[in-house]
Amino acid sequence: MDFFEVLEGRRSVRAYAQATVAATQLATILDAVRVAPSAGDLQAFRIAVVDSPEQKAGLAKAALGQSFIGDAAIVLVFLADVERSAVKYAQRGRTLFALQDATIAAAYAQLCATALGLASCWVGAFDDAQVANVLGAPAGLWPIAILPIGVPAETPQRPPRRSHAALLLRTQAGPPH
Ligand SMILES: Cc1cc2nc3c(=O)[nH]c(=O)nc-3n(C[C@H](O)[C@H](O)[C@H](O)COP(=O)(O)O)c2cc1C
Repeated sequence: MDFFEVLEGRRSVRAYAQATVAATQLATILDAVRVAPSAGDLQAFRIAVVDSPEQKAGLAKAALGQSFIGDAAIVLVFLADVERSAVKYAQRGRTLFALQDATIAAAYAQLCATALGLASCWVGAFDDAQVANVLGAPAGLWPIAILPIGVPAETPQRPPRRSHAALLLRTQAGPPH
């Protein structure tokens, strides 16, 4: 699958087969995450790898009962390491860059999972404190995204997207010619 096929092929999948994700596949996903850009190359995020049924059920509950999380082979939780970024960037690191680092990392993980023939779904609707509690995460690690990953058991249609024109912001001066 080339890069553009990966972009085209990724879908939010919310049904997973009862199949495992191999340790080598997880390692490949983590390798992809490691090459993601981050503010000041601080890589101000952490990843919790969850595969126990109890913890997965806890995450599903923390995510407002999104039960498909419990059906995935593994669940990655991306947490912003706010103080790591704050050391260099103070408040901007704490409130923005750590969040962005974790977000980019999760996006890379999703694309890599797709390239491996796996499926995922970005889950952002959750109670932060409950997620941190399920993971036993210390203060300063802010849960940003839950990513259940598994072998797909559904093939969702492509959802509609906005047009180029709708996405572009026309500035008054316009681009230089
Ligand atoms: C920040 C963010 C939060 C999201 N939260 C959820 C969620 O809590 N539950 C869910 O089922 N999907 C969630 N999604 C997935 C979106 O619904 C999905 O990306 C969107 O409908 C487009 O579909 P596609 O990913 O298949 O292209 C989230 C996606 C993003 C980027």
